[in-house]
Amino acid sequence: MIILKSAQEIELIAQASRVVALTIAFLREQVKPGVTTADLDRLAEEFILREGARPAFKGYRGYPATLCTSVNEEVVHGIPSPKKRLREGDIIGIDVGAIVEGYYGDAAVTLPVGRVSDAAARLIEVTEAALTAGLAQVKVGNRLSDISHAVQTVAEGEGYSVVTDFVGHGIGRNLHEDPQVPNFGKPGEGPRLKEGLVLAIEPMVNVGKHEVEVLSDRWTVVTRDKSLSAHFEHTVALTSDGPKVLTRAA
Ligand code: MF3
Ligand code: CO
Repeated sequence: MIILKSAQEIELIAQASRVVALTIAFLREQVKPGVTTADLDRLAEEFILREGARPAFKGYRGYPATLCTSVNEEVVHGIPSPKKRLREGDIIGIDVGAIVEGYYGDAAVTLPVGRVSDAAARLIEVTEAALTAGLAQVKVGNRLSDISHAVQTVAEGEGYSVVTDFVGHGIGRNLHEDPQVPNFGKPGEGPRLKEGLVLAIEPMVNVGKHEVEVLSDRWTVVTRDKSLSAHFEHTVALTSDGPKVLTRAA
């Protein structure tokens, strides 16, 4: 069941999302060769708490950290570790969630570590463009799969594949609510988009094949063919003033 949100509820999701955006902006400055993903996680947790919010992922179904940090062939849900030190040429997906007064915000970016290959830079660019195309479909009267189709068209148009085992989601009083937001599909299907709808749209795009697997830590999702993968995510609301991307740093 899709839970549409009031203007007051969207304001709280916006507050949580603002903390997420600020955290990502802060982490951009910290990502460099030599830093460990555990360093980033500690900095992020301190930052979120200082902003008066709480990390959304820590404790969620037993997840142990504030961030998901997914390096190179890791797709999503990489667990920060003091043993994982970033190296020049890596790419790192950083996924952040925060809670303010019981409402969630959720966003992710993929960042280059120092100078990266043209192939890695292109993957990052196209995955972000796929998210932008999905966001552009968030309009009253469109259907849910218009978002999915737009994401898939951009990613596959560049010869990449989209991950199908994980999807975006509604968000509000829970991190994951209905509807699921796949990153693939035919246009013109699924529920119509209405005022009060709040979604986390999150394309995961692989250079190689779409198949993924989960490592023995039970969380880290990697590409089966070990090809590079990128992930971007925004929380977006359909308000009475139209669509608003809530996790964009102002
Ligand atoms: N943005 C991710 C998602 O929506 C974050 C979940 S990580 C978890 O799936 F640890 F909280 F599960
Ligand atoms: Co999400």
